[in-house]
Parts: sequence; C-alpha cells; structure tokens
Amino acid sequence: MSKRIFVPDLIRKRQRGEAITMLTAYDFTFASLVDQAGVDVILVGDSLGTVVQGHETTIPVTVDQMVYHVSLVARAAKSALVVADLPFMSYQPGPEVALQNAGRFIKEAGAAAVKLEGGQTVSETIRRIVDAGIPVMGHVGLTPQSFHTMGGHKIQGKRSADAKRLLADAKAVENAGAFCVVLEGIPASLAEQITNNLSIPTIGIGAGSKCSGQVLVLHDLLGITPLGEGAPPKFVKQYANLKETILSAVANFITDVKSGEFPTTEHEYKASPEKSGPRRVVS
Ligand code: KIV
Repeated sequence: MSKRIFVPDLIRKRQRGEAITMLTAYDFTFASLVDQAGVDVILVGDSLGTVVQGHETTIPVTVDQMVYHVSLVARAAKSALVVADLPFMSYQPGPEVALQNAGRFIKEAGAAAVKLEGGQTVSETIRRIVDAGIPVMGHVGLTPQSFHTMGGHKIQGKRSADAKRLLADAKAVENAGAFCVVLEGIPASLAEQITNNLSIPTIGIGAGSKCSGQVLVLHDLLGITPLGEGAPPKFVKQYANLKETILSAVANFITDVKSGEFPTTEHEYKASPEKSGPRRVVS
C-alpha cells in the first residue's frame, strides 16, 4: 500500500515540479478503486448534484448529503488525501457558519481538507477556517455555484479586466492561507500566469497544461456521465467507455434470464446431505 498523502506532500510536489493528480469520487466502491490506482487527492465534489443526484446544477446539494458521501469516501481512502467540497450556502453566510460546516466534514465525515469557491470575497472565510486548523483548497474561475450569476457554466477570464480580477482572486486565496487552488474553465495562458504568480499548487480543470496538477470528474473520465448531459465538455479526456460495457453487461443478463441461460448449476447451492443412521446422543 502506498504512503498516506498529507497537505505538505502536495506543497512539496509543486516545489519539485511533480504533477498532482486529483479525481472526484462519491462512494466507497469508486473511491477504493481510485485510491488503489494511486491518485494523490480524492475530491468529494458538489458535482454530486449533477453526476449522482441528476440535478441541472450543484446548487441543491446540502451539507448533510455531502457529509454522508464524504464519510463513504473517507472510509475507502487509504492513501489519497480526501477533500470535501463545501456546498452552496454552507459558507456564503459568513466565516462562523463556514467554520461550523467545515468542522463537520473533518470531525464527522473524516475529510482531511475542505474546498470552497470564490476569491477576494471569501478570503476572510478561508482565513477563519485555516486558523482553526482545517486546510482549505480554493476554487476560482468558473465556479459552478455561481451558475445564475455567470449565466450558465461559462468560461471565465477571457477579457483582460476579468483575467486581472481572477489573478487577484487567486492571490487573495493564497494570502488567506489556502494550501492549493483549483482553476476551472479559464484560458490556458491565464492559468499559466496565475500558477507562475502563486507559490501554492494550482489544480486545473479546463485550464490547460501549465497548472501544478489536474482534476477531472471521475464519471467523465470513465465514460459514464449521466445520459441527459450530452457530450462531455472539450476539456475532458475519456479514458474508458464504461457506459458501453455496462449497457452490454445488463443486456446480456436480461437475455440470459429470459432464455434460462442464467443461473446454471454452477450458481446453485446444494442442500446438506441427509445424515443416515441413528444420531449419536451426546450427554
Ligand atoms: O465539484 C466538483 O467536482 C469540482 C471539480 C470539478 C473541481 O469542483
């Protein structure tokens, strides 16, 4: 079994120029596989809302739902660092509410760190959580919890004023004490500029190759993104087509049951052989 990964290991990886790998997981089975495969960080993302719960956005996800899913993943992760996403309205009301909720993820669910979206406007909140001894991962650029403000899941930072603001946001996250920051849905050149201006690692998703690491939603990578969502976004690389594998396995099961091919005697239990003769009575 590989060594357990802690926050300082990720900082050292960035200093050595070693790429950091992060994937999402939401349950014990997938988290065990991702952990065994050797990923550095498992993010229990609030993408739970779209990927697992079938919502259009991440907005409906609650703290209680996230605590439950984080506990499943934390039980599975033997070496990866488990990061819990703070869902919408679990930190926006202010630093004290945020700290209470962040504390639940560490204490009740077994996460090692929390993630929250935003830059300059959440820096006080990040500072409060970090000061309480909870590592925080920032998230700037395309921040899915701002779906309505952004007008959908839109690429951010294309115009120079927006790019400047995002650089300032990432700096604010670092200055507030975050150990790492996710850069989502921004031009590759801006992600490179932000990475070069920070000393903490950046983890990109749809942010080009110059970040300190990369994250993908596991279901996208495996080719099992829910059917309603259409084609995965341009930044996704699909490493497997599990959708085809699952559909054909289930279709084969249906065919076999209907035709009597399953179960066969090899799947049956035998009754215990009857004991012959008088039973010996033990007094
Ligand atoms: O919720 C999530 O899965 C995320 C990643 C896409 C970074 O925030």
